[in-house]
Amino acid sequence: LKRSFSSSSPMAGAIKNVTVIGGGLMGSGIAQIAAAAGQKVVLVETNEKLLQGANSRINESLKRVAKKQFKENPSAGESFVQETMGRISGTTNPSEGAASADLIVEAIVENMGIKQKLFATLDEAAPKHTIFASNTSSLSITEIASQCQRKDKFGGLHFFNPVPVMKLLEVVRTNDTSDETYKKMMEWGQEVGKTCITCKDTPGFVVNRLLVPQLAEAIRMLERGDASPRDIDTAMKLGAGHPMGPFELADYVGHDTTKFIIDGWHEKMPENPLFKPSELLNKMVKEGKLGVKSGEGFYSYKKK
Ligand code: NAI
Repeated sequence: LKRSFSSSSPMAGAIKNVTVIGGGLMGSGIAQIAAAAGQKVVLVETNEKLLQGANSRINESLKRVAKKQFKENPSAGESFVQETMGRISGTTNPSEGAASADLIVEAIVENMGIKQKLFATLDEAAPKHTIFASNTSSLSITEIASQCQRKDKFGGLHFFNPVPVMKLLEVVRTNDTSDETYKKMMEWGQEVGKTCITCKDTPGFVVNRLLVPQLAEAIRMLERGDASPRDIDTAMKLGAGHPMGPFELADYVGHDTTKFIIDGWHEKMPENPLFKPSELLNKMVKEGKLGVKSGEGFYSYKKK
């Protein structure tokens, strides 16, 4: 039934209907900025409770945006929140969510098999013109797309946390991504208010490819006893102009996530010394010291 949309959908034209799969930290942010830019958004989660959770997170976040943007005019702020929320609907059925999409952005769990399976299902359900994109941080877009027919309409749209605040969008082209798909992804990124950069489908794209090895080297510096985490962080903030030092950033991201990324890259490229696993990081993960979210990482976040 839903497939009947596909034949009548135009090939050309801007992206107006976006389906976001996964309403967690990243997906809810992506849904929020797309809706705030005037697009119709369908959010897909695994159950109703998670859908509701995502909705209320988006609502709270929009209220914060409205407070800043409509400081002088609170009632305009209120209508901005309501109108934006009005453009977001939810479903627990990915195929239903795909049926009306010009673009699908996937932001589910960082697992290759699960992502491939999801996209194979979406490939069956979505209209022919629908562009598929993954927000993966560390997996290969080409591999995620491998079970789909529409490899020319597949790319990466890699956002940064928190999505409504961070201005960058990495637009990832695989060897199969067509010029038209790439162009549409760039235009869409600009429309949702991001500064877009273009990159190839290589591990970590641009930002994480440079950040993760830097963090690993900072940890090796600590292990060698060259300097303390506090001094290394101060050095990178005041000497390199970074807003956060490597240890502060690692605690914020979560050490389980960083370990997962390093291990994945190391497995694929064991000869690359930049991706060598860190014993200290492994030990901290084993001890449950994951950073801000567990209350302890390189620094302590326990409430006194
Ligand atoms: P999260 O755990 O906060 O959210 C994932 C959500 O996806 C969960 O709410 C889960 O219920 C849902 N989900 C899982 N399987 C699903 C399915 N089959 N259908 C629909 N929903 C499903 O994770 P987060 O942090 O938002 O990460 C999502 C993706 O974004 C990952 O690929 C990650 O690598 C990437 N990413 C994460 C960043 C971060 O700073 N956390 C930054 C940039 C990208």
